[in-house]
Amino acid sequence: MCGIVGYTGTRQAVDVLLDSLKKLEYRGYDSAGVAIVDQSIQLHKDKGVIANMESTLPRFTGGVGVAHTRWATCGRPSKENAHPFIDCSGNLALVHNGIIENYMELKRQLIAEGHKFTSDTDTEILVHLIERHYTGDALEALNQALKEVKGTYALVLVQKGSDHIYAARRENPLVIGLGVGENFIASDVTALLDYTNKVIYVMDGEVVDLSPSKVTIYDSNGSVVNRKPEVITWSAEDAQKGGFEHFMLKEIFEVPSAIHNTLLGNLDGVEDGTFLTNVDFNSVKIVACGTSHHAAMVGRYLIERLAKLPVSAELASEYRYGEKAKECPLVILITQSGETADTLAAAREAKRRGCRTLAITNVVGSTITREVDEVFYTRAGPEIGVAATKTFIAQLIALYLIAMRLGYAKKSMSHDSLRTMRNEMMSLPQVVRRVLDNADQVEQATDMLVSARDVFFLGRNINYPVMLEGALKLKEISYIHAEGYAAGEMKHGPLALIDASTPIVATVVRDQTYEKMLSNISEVQAREGLVLAIGGEGDAELEQVAHKVLYVPGVPALYSPVPISVLLQLLAYYTAKRKGCSIDKPKNLAKSVTVD
Ligand code: AGP
Repeated sequence: MCGIVGYTGTRQAVDVLLDSLKKLEYRGYDSAGVAIVDQSIQLHKDKGVIANMESTLPRFTGGVGVAHTRWATCGRPSKENAHPFIDCSGNLALVHNGIIENYMELKRQLIAEGHKFTSDTDTEILVHLIERHYTGDALEALNQALKEVKGTYALVLVQKGSDHIYAARRENPLVIGLGVGENFIASDVTALLDYTNKVIYVMDGEVVDLSPSKVTIYDSNGSVVNRKPEVITWSAEDAQKGGFEHFMLKEIFEVPSAIHNTLLGNLDGVEDGTFLTNVDFNSVKIVACGTSHHAAMVGRYLIERLAKLPVSAELASEYRYGEKAKECPLVILITQSGETADTLAAAREAKRRGCRTLAITNVVGSTITREVDEVFYTRAGPEIGVAATKTFIAQLIALYLIAMRLGYAKKSMSHDSLRTMRNEMMSLPQVVRRVLDNADQVEQATDMLVSARDVFFLGRNINYPVMLEGALKLKEISYIHAEGYAAGEMKHGPLALIDASTPIVATVVRDQTYEKMLSNISEVQAREGLVLAIGGEGDAELEQVAHKVLYVPGVPALYSPVPISVLLQLLAYYTAKRKGCSIDKPKNLAKSVTVD
């Protein structure tokens, strides 16, 4: 995601900031910029990598500044949309990570008051909002402005002619680095480790005032907070992983914020029709590869159920062999990277057939966004591990929202049921946190898989594609042969392979499939197969039929793919870890598959 660094001290700030910013490159970004305070604010930014921006950077002097790497969420990647942003009077410069939800409304007000905007970002309104309240005291103006803002932020503000840096946090990380006669602030401790290992983490709702000799933290009531510094003993590489052993595990633990951010940016659009404004189609085709294809298959169940439209899910690599249907469906293309060659080819083919196209992607400005009629962004943040984890869950969230939008627009969902679903969706980050709290139990369950040669993953209904994804995750990173099956299909062939050496992972949720899943488990037991069942909390019946049970929080069956998928990601991760596999970079695989 975006990176922030700020510095105040006796060194040339520009040198410290560029050096620190480069430590955040691993997070992924599409533009970079820096603002150095002197008698005026000196600003420089550019699209592309930091080296790009650096190659044309004038020799700025001054001991105070901020810098930023942007990963586009609101407004395409460009020089204009890069941070920092400066106010109209040139007194203030600001960088920001997060999403300002009410920026459209605030922008309208500020334009009416005469403020001039130079970008399409939500961030730029912040600096103008602070300017609205500025009468010489930047800290006071920041506090006033934050009262008007809805959304999430980690932001850092500098002021012309001042050696103070001000920062604020709501749901996006910020950490202060303590030096002698100098102080630092960053979105990630990795940026600071070359300069200091003494840090103070900023908490939600806090506002910070840094000068070279002093750090003051205020809580949300404006009272001064005294927090002891921590000493970081991690290496820079460990710090990039936020203390997690692998990016994949870090990214699984980022699922709650991926869900939250995807909802935050898109939930209102379900009713307002800010996406899929016009629904003049009578069927839907969802096209994707790999993990994204499994999301597509879940999407089929969701849209059929909520919008009562016929839906098919197709592999992007096979789409080109189909024929143009009489009536053109809406074609939804799912690709987290936005660069998968087969999915791009399918998008072009869909256009050639005259179909309307919508892409679900995680990367703003990626190639798919230029190929389709409409884009729906998941906001999971960059994913570094080759195995898709948080982006898959964010794709599911996007599909719930699209299904709700279609259900409402096509009048198969009432306003009340939409409201109920909105509330249920908002509880999903907390549901996933509870799955993550039990990660050690998932790790213990890997005893059943770690020595297996083959594993079957069984599910029914909406959890059938979830089990296909569970199998893909396991084979991709642990190199164990795994097959996902619709549980009802086992007796049509694969049962022949079941014996005491073949474990089965079966998901059993309390819907119309419950009894049938129990029968499928019994069929496996009768062939001496070992069953690891995944069920809803409190389902003691499962313990009678399975060798081991892992529980997820009880949610309505419609949402069960979310916690179950996260549990399966952990299961694959811990199995691969026990086997000593190269988890973040599995052999023969790439993060973006740009050949077809
Ligand atoms: C997922 O773990 C895999 N790395 C792979 O199946 C991936 O989902 C597939 O290549 C599609 O990628 P995309 O979402 O970027 O298009």
